[in-house]
This record gives sequence, structure tokens and C-alpha cells, in this order.
Amino acid sequence: MQRIETIEWTAAGVVMIDQTRLPRETVFVTCRNYLDVADAIRNMIIRGAPAIGVAAAMGVALGALQSNNLEADIPLICETLAKTRPTAVNLFWAIDRMRRLYEDVKHLSAQEIRDTLVAEAQAMRANDIATNQAIGRNGAPLVPDGKTVLTHCNAGALATAGFGTALGVIRAAVEMGKKIDVFADETRPFLQGARLTAWELMRDGIDTTLITDNMAGHFLKSGRIGCVVVGADRIAANGDVANKVGTYGVAVLAKENNVPFYVAAPISTLDLTLRSGDEIPIEERAASEVTHVQGVNVAPDGIRVANPAFDVTPNRYVSAIITERGVARAPYSESLPALVG
Ligand code: MRU
Repeated sequence: MQRIETIEWTAAGVVMIDQTRLPRETVFVTCRNYLDVADAIRNMIIRGAPAIGVAAAMGVALGALQSNNLEADIPLICETLAKTRPTAVNLFWAIDRMRRLYEDVKHLSAQEIRDTLVAEAQAMRANDIATNQAIGRNGAPLVPDGKTVLTHCNAGALATAGFGTALGVIRAAVEMGKKIDVFADETRPFLQGARLTAWELMRDGIDTTLITDNMAGHFLKSGRIGCVVVGADRIAANGDVANKVGTYGVAVLAKENNVPFYVAAPISTLDLTLRSGDEIPIEERAASEVTHVQGVNVAPDGIRVANPAFDVTPNRYVSAIITERGVARAPYSESLPALVG
């Protein structure tokens, strides 16, 4: 597997590959303070639930490093980072973890507190990679040999600190020796499938075919798709799954055609405080993402636009949720809390 430097902690700041410019240009952005990190998350320079969690943790650490008044600044830094994107719960999970750690160590010297927060952010990056490898190990046996895997959006190395969740399952299945190929939905409007998933999988030499989103039904009916594997941004206690808009349609089409629909996500994507997916906040993004394709206007001026960035797939369409701690199946209101422990 080719290494992809999604996010790194460096002496100069937090360095990220600019995901708005892939695949045309491989450009790295250095966030020199926590406000730069917040902008990078908001503007999708870094995106994907686990990746924005790690970015937020590094943002808190960077803010702490530059603060002369930690007690006043930590809440402000955390609030600013929490306001960047509303749907992926990993963002809030990571910020809460940093805030709680600060509370635990705030009796120490300012330098010791800063060192602790920086070490924690770096550990969260390393843990995320190990988590994704475990998700891959748990999910790979579910992938049918000799068939095609369909995926939506990008739940790969770029959406995480490395290896990926849905693409981690695919990578692990390939590493096991399974003969599989991948169909990647282009994922309008932001084109994470066309720009990022296709780029990542091609770099790894995994046989990949790019399709537009409206072709998924055609191929799910054809019998060649062995399973669907997607990531998640937030999973409610009943197993309803928020993921990139368009996922719900793919899940319904998968069930209609008896194709298993798997969700691969770390435990940090579970939000067991929410009873169902109806409670998950759905981000609405700029109209220009729909009216424009890579800067070119494709719609009449003045047209009204809706742009929900995520949708919620009801649990009845989800064949299994693959986590680092094991595979949960329905009834999710029992299997998910059992995994969390
Ligand atoms: O808007 P994005 O690109 O951040 O949305 C990403 C997704 O929906 C992913 O599928 C999800 O975050 C899982 S990433 C491992």
C-alpha cells in the first residue's frame, strides 16, 4: 500500500494534503495555528469523519502550544473547532477527549500541559491507523471473493489518518488474496469518489472502475456486485447511519437486489446518545457546490439549490456495521452497546 500523508504533526505546524486539489495537484497545506486548522476542516482541505477528528485534536494541541492563558483559551479553541462541521461525530469526540485530558492535567505546569496535549493528538493519529487496520481485518472475511465491491464517497486513507475504513476493508481483502475489483461512485456534488477514491485505489494498483452515482442501480441489478461497503459520519443507537448524501439510495438499491450493504466505521463514529438517525444534524453546504463543477457554472443563474451533504440510511438496510472491536448486526440497539462495553 502506498503511504498517503493525509495529516502530520510537524515542527512548522499541522501539515495536510489539500483534498480540494486532488487528483490534479498534490499540494500540502501547513496550518500554523488552530484557526488555520478550523478553516481547513470547514473548507474540506481535510475531510472524512476520522480525519477531521484527528485534525481537530491537532488543532487543540496547536492552540495550546501558542496560548499564554490555557484556562481561558482552551474552551475558546474547542468551541471554534466544534463549529466547523456539524454531522461527523468524530469531530466532537476528538475535541471532548482533548478537553477532558486538559481538565485532568491542568494542575501541571503550562509546559507539561502543552506536551501532554501534543502527545495525545499524535497518539490519536497513530491509533486511528491501527483502528482502521483492525476494521479491515474484521471486514475482509465478509467480502465475497471474485466479485465487485461498490463504494460511495471516500472512506479511505484520505478520510482517516491512514488505511481507511471502507477502503481499509477492501485493502485487507486484497491483502488476504481475494480477487476483487471496485466500483467507485463519483459522489456528486463534491466528487470524493471520482477525485479521491479513484486516485487512492489506482495508486495501490486495486482494479477500480469509476461510475456516476445514477449508474449504481444498474450495476447492483446486474449480479456482479458482491457487496457494498461504505463509511459513516455518525451512527445512532438504533443503527441508523449518516453518511455522504446518496448512500441511502445505494442502500435501498442494494436491499432490492439482495446485495449485502456493509458500513465500516470506528467506535468513535457511534453516537449512542441519539436514539435514531432522525436526531443527526445534517450539514447544508454552499449552493455553488451544486451549480458549479470544478469552477464551471452548469446551472442557470438564480436557480434555488438544496445541498445536504449527508443522508441517513435506516438500520433495516444495513447488513452489518464493521468496527475495530467486531461486527455488529441487527438488532443494533443491542449489538452496538455490547461492542462499546
Ligand atoms: O463531506 P465529507 O467528504 O467529509 O464526507 C465524508 C463521508 O461521508 C465519509 O464516507 C465518512 O466520513 C466516512 S470516512 C472514513
